[in-house]
Amino acid sequence: MSAIRYELDSDQILTLTIDMPGQSANTMNGAFREGLSETVNRVKTDLDAIRGIIVTSAKKTFFAGGDLNELHRVTRAQASEFEAMVNGLKADMRFLETTGKPLVAAINGTALGGGLEIALACHHRVVMDDDSIQLGLPEVTLGLLPGGGGTQRLPRMIGLEAAFPFLMEGKKVTPGAALKAGIVDELAGSPEELLNKARAFIDANPKRQQPWDQKGFKLPGGAPHHPAMAQKLAIAPAMLRQKTKGCYPAPERILSAAVEGAQVDFDNGSLIETRYFTELVTGQVAKNMTSTFWFQLNAIKAGGSRPEGVAGETFRKVGVLGAGMMGAGIAYATASRGIEVILKDVSVENAEKGKSYSEKLLARKVSRGRMSEDQKAAVLSRIRATDSAADLEGCDLVIEAVFEDSDLKARVTREAEPKLVTNGIFASNTSTIPITQLADASARPENFIGLHFFSPVDKMQLVEIIVGARTSDETLARAFDYVQQIGKIPIVVNDSRGFFTSRVFGTFVNEGISMLAEGIHPASIENAGLLAGMPVGPLAISDEVSMTLMQHIRAQSRKDTEAAGGTWRPHPAEAVIDRMVDEFGRKGKAAGAGFYDYPANGKKHLWADLESLFVDSARARNVALQDLKDRILFIQAIETVRCLEEGVLRTVADANIGSIFGIGYAPWTGGAIQFINQYGVRAFTARAHALADQYGERFNPPALLLEKAESNTDFA
Ligand code: NAI
Repeated sequence: MSAIRYELDSDQILTLTIDMPGQSANTMNGAFREGLSETVNRVKTDLDAIRGIIVTSAKKTFFAGGDLNELHRVTRAQASEFEAMVNGLKADMRFLETTGKPLVAAINGTALGGGLEIALACHHRVVMDDDSIQLGLPEVTLGLLPGGGGTQRLPRMIGLEAAFPFLMEGKKVTPGAALKAGIVDELAGSPEELLNKARAFIDANPKRQQPWDQKGFKLPGGAPHHPAMAQKLAIAPAMLRQKTKGCYPAPERILSAAVEGAQVDFDNGSLIETRYFTELVTGQVAKNMTSTFWFQLNAIKAGGSRPEGVAGETFRKVGVLGAGMMGAGIAYATASRGIEVILKDVSVENAEKGKSYSEKLLARKVSRGRMSEDQKAAVLSRIRATDSAADLEGCDLVIEAVFEDSDLKARVTREAEPKLVTNGIFASNTSTIPITQLADASARPENFIGLHFFSPVDKMQLVEIIVGARTSDETLARAFDYVQQIGKIPIVVNDSRGFFTSRVFGTFVNEGISMLAEGIHPASIENAGLLAGMPVGPLAISDEVSMTLMQHIRAQSRKDTEAAGGTWRPHPAEAVIDRMVDEFGRKGKAAGAGFYDYPANGKKHLWADLESLFVDSARARNVALQDLKDRILFIQAIETVRCLEEGVLRTVADANIGSIFGIGYAPWTGGAIQFINQYGVRAFTARAHALADQYGERFNPPALLLEKAESNTDFA
């Protein structure tokens, strides 16, 4: 059975229905290429009998895009073969575009990547008017570029500047927004209307060519060499480099493909595009990004570390204790997904204040046209603000987000547990206290678990599920279901101080501060953090976290270590933190001063005195930026290996996804463990030894890493 159904009717209209056998969605793989090539041969034979062609799909979506499994496997050695294959596919699409007969896309569902590119090759696009449909070219988010003509056709349709957000940021739009942007031509209210409008276009346009195939075609918005456009484009690469810190090759290649392609005819532009596409497909960054964002994220969504054999659960009523920053966010995320929420604080006033946070977020959605007033009211009606524990009666799950205080947490646990349904779950959102210890207050420790959300909850997708020593598999499985029900990404970790994310994050922050202790200029440290791909520099983030909190966490860890008979080995960052807090009273952002100054009406800037206090000018002059960047990426990767080794982490997918979504570990690396794989376990281990010799034993490779290096095997 062919991937494309070929139906030439008595009205001489040919309908090509893409319906790839054995697949739930259409993708651009070998079967599709074969189907397209057969189709082209038949069209060549039948051409005189054809008045026009409609392209549509038999699936729920129109076309899902490239086949990432296939792309992921292409090696550098196969580059020229791959390039020829892509050009062959594009030549077939180009043939249909240039027969002179009208070619119409009847877009019945979501069209992303290669799917939208097929539609762009058509002369006219009609799409179902349904807001659940998405149109866009998300390739850039996987380190790729739209290699099916997208970088050539879209700028020729709507102009370079208007095309950039779609090409370089992977912007996705609804059919209505696509119509406004000029990406589609008509909307249809029903499947019949969709096909009728496509037919009407063919009737009205017996002959058709793309604008770019006509004499005297001018690029909308101005060609690259026009003075106004040239000026904008001249600064674009520098702006991009600043934005991507030079770590992400895709946006730069997309810019090159679009701009270079716009200066030549379409067919040559298409060849340029293929060359850049091949470079990205066979390069390491796209491999890193597809492996985490596609394969590993899908593995987690498909069940990840959820124990098998436990029936799935749908949560109906969830209690949230504490309506502060975290509780308010958790209530919003939960109610937004249709779950009833009891939001409890010490006073109704506090609880209402927490609820008003949801109101603010929802109002913003309404004002941006993303939600109706009715939908907003429905979400708000699901949140009940209260000061009474009695209202928790019948909750399937209670999540506590009260102050970080063990005694208080024990008290609210004892108060809430009796109100839960039989077998209900009690979860703590603690950021530092071991779950096993908190579970001591519980009458049902097997139903006690950690659900560590990140701030701001509405934006941060990750939830770290923490399994205490007595937490049952059943509780874990059900907590996993809750996290998925609210649309977040669950990773599972075993209990340990700092769990996984805070522990690794701490090594990043401490590494940055220890550079200051060595006399390196603070601006170089912040810059190295950004160049390594972290979202914020280590000194700025220390201010956000607050250095008093860091002192507090250290004191706790030290107590634990010594209680267990261990010896505390001070980190070089400690002395700097203590001086900042105890000598200068600069505790961080909330206190108004830290490594940065926070002027009331101006931008924050590094505290000028840091230079005279800490910087060693000889050292600062001779510092190698590569060393600083490596230290930031290595220290976190090494700590992640320790978490795997100690069984804090259960899978490599959890490690990679958790490091990117929870800590902000450079996404171009594909995560902290993928970074090691890609660096090569042996090369990584050798570099770690060198860093340990120079900067301290914290860089010593853990046993698990040495084992991998010895046998030269990747982390699978
Ligand atoms: P917060 O100080 O903003 O809110 C705590 C709330 O708990 C206050 O509204 C307080 O009135 C309320 N509360 C106190 N006693 C209560 C009781 N007996 N019953 C009900 N409510 C009570 O604190 P935040 O930042 O929301 O943190 C809450 C928890 O989440 C802490 O355990 C914290 O460590 C953890 N966490 C914080 C993160 C952050 O970025 N702030 C990130 C992840 C976890």
